[in-house]
Amino acid sequence: MIIAIDGPAGAGKSTVAKILAKKLGYLHLNTGAMYRAITLKALQNGVDLDDEDALVNLAKNSLIEFRDGGSRIILDGNDVSKEIKTPDIDKNISIVVKHPRLRDIMVDQQRKIGEKGNIVSEGRDITTVVFPDAEVKIYLDASLEERAKRRLGELKRKGYNLNIEQVQNETARRDESDRTREYGALRLSEDAIPIDTTNLTIDEVVQKILEIVEKRKL
Ligand code: DC
Repeated sequence: MIIAIDGPAGAGKSTVAKILAKKLGYLHLNTGAMYRAITLKALQNGVDLDDEDALVNLAKNSLIEFRDGGSRIILDGNDVSKEIKTPDIDKNISIVVKHPRLRDIMVDQQRKIGEKGNIVSEGRDITTVVFPDAEVKIYLDASLEERAKRRLGELKRKGYNLNIEQVQNETARRDESDRTREYGALRLSEDAIPIDTTNLTIDEVVQKILEIVEKRKL
C-alpha cells in the first residue's frame, strides 16, 4: 500500500508520517528532505540556485538514501538529517524546488523508492504527481498561525532564536511559493481526504489516518 500525504509547511506531515510508518512497518518517504539535501549540496558547492542545468547535474551525481525506516537521510554516504533542517535551507529551498527538470529527477527517484510499496510518502505533489494512484490520499492542513507556532517550537528546541512574526512571515512566503509555482504546485486533489490539524493532537491525526487505512484494506 502507498499512503500519500500532501500539505503546507507545518501541517504535521513529517511527524504524522513518521509515526504512521513506524506503526505500520512501512518506509517513511520524506520527499521534502530530498529537496532539502539537494539544496544543502548546492549551497555547499556554491551552485547558483537559479541555474537549472547545474542543479540537474548536481542531482544526477548525488545519491540520496533513507535509513532506519526513513528517519535518517544520507547524502553521498553522509548523514545530513540535521543539516537539512536549518533556517538557511528554509530560506533558499523555494528557488531550487521550482525547476521542472530537477523535479522530474526527484519524482523518478521517489517512484523508484515507492516501487516496492508499503511506504508513507509526504510532500507537496505526492497525491497529484508522484503517486496519483496511491491507495490512501490525505491532505493535511492547519491555520497559518498554528503552523508557524509549531515551526517556532521546533526551531527553538534546536537553539535558534527567532520570533513568531519572523517564522509566520517565512511560512507564508513558502506557502505562496509552493501554491503558485508552475510545476508540481501544492493543491488539494479532488480524491484526497482533507484533515484540518489545527485543533487536533498528533495522536488524533494518526488515529484518523489509521482508520482510513483500515477501511481501505477491507
Ligand atoms: O516538507 P518540507 O517543509 O521539508 O519541504 C521543504 C520544501 O520543499 C518546501 O518549501 C516545499 C518543497 N517540496 C516540494 O516542492 N515538493 C515536495 N514533494 C516536497 C517538498
